[in-house]
Amino acid sequence: MVVPETAPFEERETADRTGSAALPGRPWERRRGELTRIFTRIESHYDRLNRILSLGLDRGWREWTARSMDAPGPWLDLASGTGDLAVHVFRRRDRARSQPILIRSDLVPTLLPVGARKLARLGGSPESEAPGLGCEMDHLPFATASLGGICQGFALRHCRDYPGFFRELFRVLRPGGCIAILDMRYPAGRVAGFYRFYFRAVLPRIAVLLGGDRDAYRFLVDSVRSMPPESTLLDALRDAGFTDVASRPGFLGSVRLLLARRPAALAGSAEAAYSGPSPRNVSKGEG
Ligand SMILES: C[S@@+](CC[C@H](N)C(=O)[O-])C[C@H]1O[C@@H](n2cnc3c(N)ncnc32)[C@H](O)[C@@H]1O
Repeated sequence: MVVPETAPFEERETADRTGSAALPGRPWERRRGELTRIFTRIESHYDRLNRILSLGLDRGWREWTARSMDAPGPWLDLASGTGDLAVHVFRRRDRARSQPILIRSDLVPTLLPVGARKLARLGGSPESEAPGLGCEMDHLPFATASLGGICQGFALRHCRDYPGFFRELFRVLRPGGCIAILDMRYPAGRVAGFYRFYFRAVLPRIAVLLGGDRDAYRFLVDSVRSMPPESTLLDALRDAGFTDVASRPGFLGSVRLLLARRPAALAGSAEAAYSGPSPRNVSKGEG
């Protein structure tokens, strides 16, 4: 059964086919354990598969996201995984004007050293410039108003509670700070049928042929389907206090970039006087 994007969230939640414990609607403790298991399992072939399954377009999408980070650092790459988005953000480090430039966080800290090796190949020193940190995306171990920008690639759908997540992003951002969140979406209109067929029938088979894990990729597809409608996401961003909220579609509407900004502080207020950064508990090592 195809569930339209406009269907109520609850209906979409119960319509998944895999019944994976990692999908929304399951108790969070089980979801977290299953997410950890899936991302640990697909780590070794994740990057190669991503490239092939997106026909190489994922690099452009990540560059688009990195270029949307138009506030000074430090930046946080949330759910950084093996660092494919971090690489694009790190290349823009002359604009960050801060130390560390970039903090990479993930639920599965064992993925972060893979990203560190990619950053080291760019000539940087990831230990000091882009430390890694294991944490859940909606409980961030950072001081209020300590970060200049937050980006995320292909992980929004794994969030536990969208309104709470956006409130947490708002809390840790400095006034004037920005967010850029990239994820897949089920497109509407004439391409929708083809897209669903590709995503549900073709993609998991290709994943298996390339050495991947069919169930893990089915889960990734179902997790895209489980996302709330766009209007719900945009309203939740505004309710959290963000301004300049926008959703930019890419590649026939199959991906979207959510953009928003924490309003600049009024001159003379305590927040306007803040001169961070002071992220708490940022480890120099991984995890
Ligand atoms: C599809 S990968 C994307 C990795 C990377 N951002 C990229 O662009 O390639 C999703 C990542 O989200 C992480 N993740 C899933 N749920 C999370 C959560 N609740 N909190 C933090 N990270 C999470 C996974 O461990 C995984 O590394």
